[in-house]
Amino acid sequence: MIIGIDIGSTTTKAVLVEQGTVIQRIKTRAIDAVTSATGAFGKMVLENNIPMSEITRIAITGVGASKIKGSIFGIPTEKVDEFTAIGKGGMFQSGRDNIIITNIGTGTVIIEARKNEINHVGGSGVGGGTILGLSKKLLQSTTFSDIMDMAATGSLNQVDLLLEDIIGTDLSFLSREATAANFGKMLDSAKNEDIARAIINMVYQVIGMLSVFAARSKDSDCVLVTGSGSDNAIGKKTLEEIARMYQIHFEFPAGAEYTTAIGAGLSAVDAL
Ligand SMILES: Nc1ncnc2c1ncn2[C@@H]1O[C@H](COP(=O)(O)OP(=O)(O)OP(=O)(O)O)[C@@H](O)[C@H]1O
Ligand SMILES: [Mg+2]
Repeated sequence: MIIGIDIGSTTTKAVLVEQGTVIQRIKTRAIDAVTSATGAFGKMVLENNIPMSEITRIAITGVGASKIKGSIFGIPTEKVDEFTAIGKGGMFQSGRDNIIITNIGTGTVIIEARKNEINHVGGSGVGGGTILGLSKKLLQSTTFSDIMDMAATGSLNQVDLLLEDIIGTDLSFLSREATAANFGKMLDSAKNEDIARAIINMVYQVIGMLSVFAARSKDSDCVLVTGSGSDNAIGKKTLEEIARMYQIHFEFPAGAEYTTAIGAGLSAVDAL
């Protein structure tokens, strides 16, 4: 058995891989890299009653991977490049060997994955961390569930300048409700609920458009959305509106936050 560990900027994810199949997943909050990796390893082993002798190696990826040196409790570790891990994990989860992957974590990265080639297309510092940071200052809210609850009843037209505000009609393939400028209206009557909605909308519009351009540049019309930001009901709606306008398709795999850890575990399998 192999344990794949992804030490991300905010959370650490671990998966247990056996013969190319993912059999367990766990998540912990990232503190420092060493505590995260050993903690994730310990949690995986103890919670699933796995004898240490059955784990042959630990594959580590993510921003904290470079801090892990040598073995963990006598089990050899190996580093897997994060872009490779996202690419392999994305191909595994989509069941395709040619796919664009947009990984929404603390920040966002876009990868082109093909059977024998994985490329870093680009990315953005706009991601889950942006939603949390802006919400802390603008809404005095620091948990994702509070932000989502607020945003559920918010209205964009209190905060965003919409096309209907400036031209009153549809424009090209954009509907009159489309955003012309994020935060460009900001009425005095805007409530926290409206601002929460607008923050999430802005983040997913940016990510959605980058994904469209990435997909088009690679002649693809399908984008797999991974990372913790894949599982966001409001963000998904924003991405789906973009998908309709630009005729592309977003896929949201189950267990999307584990994609990078899965890719690390599978890379070690590949290398055996
Ligand atoms: N439902 C959600 N929608 C959007 N973002 C979310 C959601 N839940 C958590 N987040 C945010 O996602 C981020 C963590 O996601 P993830 O674990 O994929 O990132 P990471 O691997 O730690 O970061 P990175 O890959 O950028 O190094 C945090 O910023 C968190 O606030
Ligand atoms: Mg990550």
